[in-house]
Amino acid sequence: MSKIKKIRITTPATTANLGPGFDFLGLALTQYNVFEFEESERDEEIGFDCVGNNMVKKCFKKIARKYGHSDIKVKISMIENGIPVARGLGSSASAIVAGCVAANYFLGNTINDADLIDEMIKFEGHPDNVLPCYKGGMVSTISNTSDYFKHNVNKDLVFNVLIPSYKVRTEDARRVLPKEYALSDVTFNASRAMLLSKAFETGDIGLIKKVTEDKIHEPYRKQFIREWDDVENAIKDCDAKLNISGSGPTMLLISNNNSNESIINRIKGLNLQLEIHSLKVSDVGCVVKEI
Ligand code: HSE
Repeated sequence: MSKIKKIRITTPATTANLGPGFDFLGLALTQYNVFEFEESERDEEIGFDCVGNNMVKKCFKKIARKYGHSDIKVKISMIENGIPVARGLGSSASAIVAGCVAANYFLGNTINDADLIDEMIKFEGHPDNVLPCYKGGMVSTISNTSDYFKHNVNKDLVFNVLIPSYKVRTEDARRVLPKEYALSDVTFNASRAMLLSKAFETGDIGLIKKVTEDKIHEPYRKQFIREWDDVENAIKDCDAKLNISGSGPTMLLISNNNSNESIINRIKGLNLQLEIHSLKVSDVGCVVKEI
């Protein structure tokens, strides 16, 4: 084991699916969690206000034991909590990526990248949050494998997250999905997913509106989002598209620099209980710094 004393890890929030990209496409956003890991006499966790974040320690320990055959005692501190928990913005992916990357760093970065990605996907159960969180940008994977591809995203695009005050657990939002789909629904999604990369690269909102339609998960999950219908009606005639961020309940409203302000004002005028952040794609993923 190398002599790393203390590191700081920054991980971005992520929005998965982007309509038809269920379980294989996601995007990193400019909102971040910050953790510190320090070798210590005993295990300690500081600044975590929810059980879900024990995931950081669980992943760190498992990776250290499996690849380093050692139980590294570690003090883990949450320095900035920028990703709300259980809202569809990748809080668990942030915890998993931070834990895995920290363990690998303490082991002298000896784990092969594909193996580390495989571990992250196994912890999470699907790849579309952990990959963009780890690598930054817009990332698609070949199904549940460590094979990934980064796509260009036009800088003109704005990714607004409209965050309700309540939580929806991913397990619950996955349980409502059908086990089998009609061939016409699969074709509907595949034909749109095929053009997603082009649409986000050009930033053409008209095309984005068409290709981010989905028949695999959104029709079954909208029921959990109380504000969905109001927001959707309010933006119907705008240069913007509404999707569910990951498994929800956060709504992702994609727009561009030109029209974003007036669209957000319109949504604010609805007086719904939503926290709104206008974000950009984060080109950086997980960043490690020795301190
Ligand atoms: N693809 C996953 C889902 C993302 O929609 O269940 C969860 O954030």
